[in-house]
Amino acid sequence: MNSLQSFLAANPASGAGAGARLVPAGPPRRGRVSACLAAPPPPPTAAAAGPPARARRELSAASLAVIEDEARYLVGTYKRSRVVLDSARGCKLYDLDGREYLDMAAGIAVTGIGHADPDFTRAVAAQTGTLVHTSNVVYTRPQVALAKRLVEASFADRAFFANTGTEANEAAIKFARKFQRAARPDGAAPPAEFLAFSNCFHGRTMGAVALTSKAQYRDPFAPVMPGVTFVDYGDLEGARRFIQSGRVAAVFLEPVQGEGGIHSATQEFLRGLREACDEAGALLVFDEVQCGLGRTGYLWAHEAYGVEPDMMTLAKPLANGIPIGVVLVKEKVAAAINYGDHGTTFGGGPLACHAALTVLDKIQAPGFLAEVSRKGENFKQLLRTKLSGNLHVKEVRGIGLIVGIELDVPAGPLVDACLDAGVIVLTAGKGNVVRLVPPLIISEKELEHAADVIRDCLPALDVATS
Ligand SMILES: Cc1ncc(COP(=O)(O)O)c(C=O)c1O
Repeated sequence: MNSLQSFLAANPASGAGAGARLVPAGPPRRGRVSACLAAPPPPPTAAAAGPPARARRELSAASLAVIEDEARYLVGTYKRSRVVLDSARGCKLYDLDGREYLDMAAGIAVTGIGHADPDFTRAVAAQTGTLVHTSNVVYTRPQVALAKRLVEASFADRAFFANTGTEANEAAIKFARKFQRAARPDGAAPPAEFLAFSNCFHGRTMGAVALTSKAQYRDPFAPVMPGVTFVDYGDLEGARRFIQSGRVAAVFLEPVQGEGGIHSATQEFLRGLREACDEAGALLVFDEVQCGLGRTGYLWAHEAYGVEPDMMTLAKPLANGIPIGVVLVKEKVAAAINYGDHGTTFGGGPLACHAALTVLDKIQAPGFLAEVSRKGENFKQLLRTKLSGNLHVKEVRGIGLIVGIELDVPAGPLVDACLDAGVIVLTAGKGNVVRLVPPLIISEKELEHAADVIRDCLPALDVATS
């Protein structure tokens, strides 16, 4: 049973199985593949024995100096964990003091092929010594090759490259507005509003943040882009009513929500949105910045549902940590975009695009996606078994290697305890979900270790609540 099938078994109301494409993407379109599955990481350069579970980590003077300088010199936008990471290999991270950590976060769902993959490192080094940057007023081979590769592997006809997820979404917002304007050559006012959903996250720039449901991300910066309506994720009738108003340029959603707490759409919901958009002439945009590119065990998360968008945004894992974003579009959208309508200095640069081609070599290698599905399914079962009986654990959910553990209390103390025990995990949702998005190359043994550490650290939740 793959992870979608078991998700469906656990959520029979979802109905995402019938007619869904349950096979992972086909063979890779380029040669030179070495999937590097579960390659054991080499020993770190410094002493690396992790501390026993929940022992408080002492930080060296060198680590403390970095933390103090950060507090002195950086704008305080991040609440950081007290760890200074210095190097990495495979699924292991090493801090400045030589401690080893198992990476169950991959940044935030970024380093899908793991750290310091030899093929990736070689490709990036070679490109760095060949051509790092040109403007977009000339052609380069990596950019065009990556566009071709993404188009051939997806529903899309064309690509536009940006540098981040939020920028990819900004591009999609502009493209939606321009598409609607081009569809009314008589000069009638085009639909210019947007529909997004509860618990969604689309980025931090003024358009993307307007599409993001959490008021705390938007309100301090008001007025953000006007004209966004939020409906509950899964509320097809509510969404349909608004789409039918004729005011909607595009509907944005994540097929699997990451930041919002690992919530998966149902097939009925996505199909209904597709139909409603088609009837009203609105565009359907899937934000696969976090859930795309193999994380669900499918190359694209929407393949699990058999529903295609008009546009899809990607970023995080595409170049395994080198900044890149992309919006993939159908021809009807691209046809509305003219020279000068949008652009970027860095987007689609040769370094990021060459890196991304290497990532796709790995993710599209035969068997890679099936392995992600299998490991994700086993991991969820393992977590359910090991965490069962703990009253704080309400649910273990997800598809492939995007897994959430919902708690009845804030997850912070558990996340801190895991860090002290040498496992890096994230929070999501309202802070009550442990988010597990490891590199896709992680081994079964490493996943079992993560599950053991999470189980052993659960008492931290009681200490925090007593
Ligand atoms: C679904 C989704 N969309 C967009 C973004 C924004 O991406 P970035 O941080 O690269 O701007 C994120 C980041 O977490 C995301 O998860």
